Amino acid sequence: MTVEIPPSIAPAPSASERKPPARRTRAKRIAVLYNVDYEDAHPEADPGWAARAEVGLVAKSVATALAEAGYETHLVPVDGDLPAARTRLAEVDADCAFNLCESLAGDARLESAVPLVLELLGIPFTGSPPEVLGFALRKDRVKQRLAAAGIPTPAGRVLARADDPCDLPFPLIVKPVREDGSVGISRASVVQDREELARAVDTVSTSLRQPALVEQFVDGREFNVALLGHPTPRVLPLSEIDFGALPVEAPRIVSYDAKWSSGSVDDLGTVPILHPSLPTAVAARVRRAAADAFRAVGVRDYGRVDVRLASTGVPYVVDVNPNCDLSPHAGMARAAAAVGIGYGSLVGLLVRYALRRGTRGRDAAQLAPAARSSGQRPL
Ligand SMILES: Nc1ncnc2c1ncn2[C@@H]1O[C@H](COP(=O)(O)OP(=O)(O)O)[C@@H](O)[C@H]1O
Ligand SMILES: [Mg+2]
Repeated sequence: MTVEIPPSIAPAPSASERKPPARRTRAKRIAVLYNVDYEDAHPEADPGWAARAEVGLVAKSVATALAEAGYETHLVPVDGDLPAARTRLAEVDADCAFNLCESLAGDARLESAVPLVLELLGIPFTGSPPEVLGFALRKDRVKQRLAAAGIPTPAGRVLARADDPCDLPFPLIVKPVREDGSVGISRASVVQDREELARAVDTVSTSLRQPALVEQFVDGREFNVALLGHPTPRVLPLSEIDFGALPVEAPRIVSYDAKWSSGSVDDLGTVPILHPSLPTAVAARVRRAAADAFRAVGVRDYGRVDVRLASTGVPYVVDVNPNCDLSPHAGMARAAAAVGIGYGSLVGLLVRYALRRGTRGRDAAQLAPAARSSGQRPL
């Protein structure tokens, strides 16, 4: 046991013993970046409005958790005006950016512009690099990469128009080729014949102005697999969607309403269950497919992979989500909590990964030479 001498009776140090006062290290400054493209949009006009609006709440949760962990946090809302975001980042003089941006100006394709700017500014940031975000948004390209890596994924075709031919057998599911968060996915997305297929493809192209990815419908159990860490991710406990309370006529899928319309029939009928009952060998196959998909897509630090288990026992990867939903009640946080990583620890860990990475390695190589040699940020 160490006994401290109270200051009043401790002998005064001589001049030679006197040490300079310990330099107080200042708290690291974290800029929490999130998109605000939902604020001026009308929910009726934007099919992904509710998904975009959630990000503001997530940003507040992350900022609060980081502040409690001793970081100096600043919320930085990002709209389509990237120069304004740069100015705000310069004011904050952030050591690290917590990147929660999922779209810009209502367009998911612009999601990768924010980490691109952060790379240019030399600010370390959480999660995946811009090219991975851009790549993962294109479900057709992800599918090609998974297939090339020998990872099971349902057969799919891209259809730009309702009358484009499709040689896949029914049932099929029709998804927008570049969205996430179940944007554009409803009960009508699961189709049984040519007429329904044409209608669903037409809905995607008119309401979301993009081609449709038509996929073999895998009628089986669905698992969400959260992964944490890079380059070798830790596979967190599996979560299964329990479709038991869905009306019989509803297809067993996680629709947009299921994700974003709290209290809706689809929401109440899609209940995530941690630690589902599953034979060990099957669970191992699901985990393996998810980890392989995470690596094949190049996801960094954290992500979630959606897997549908066919009656043949094959775990089909249907979706790979870098920078997945970090809301305190979403799958990533729940799975982390199941292994003792509470919300504050989870977001703190993501900041530490980013700070440790810094702007070294590949990120640093992309910085303007002047910015690196002067140590200044090229604002
Ligand atoms: N090939 C498929 N077979 C069966 N269900 C699917 C398939 N693809 C997607 N789904 C269902 O649709 C949901 C959303 O599709 P997903 O590809 O994950 O899109 P998002 O990126 O919008 O989350 C999935 O969670 C799943 O319930
Ligand atoms: Mg998904």
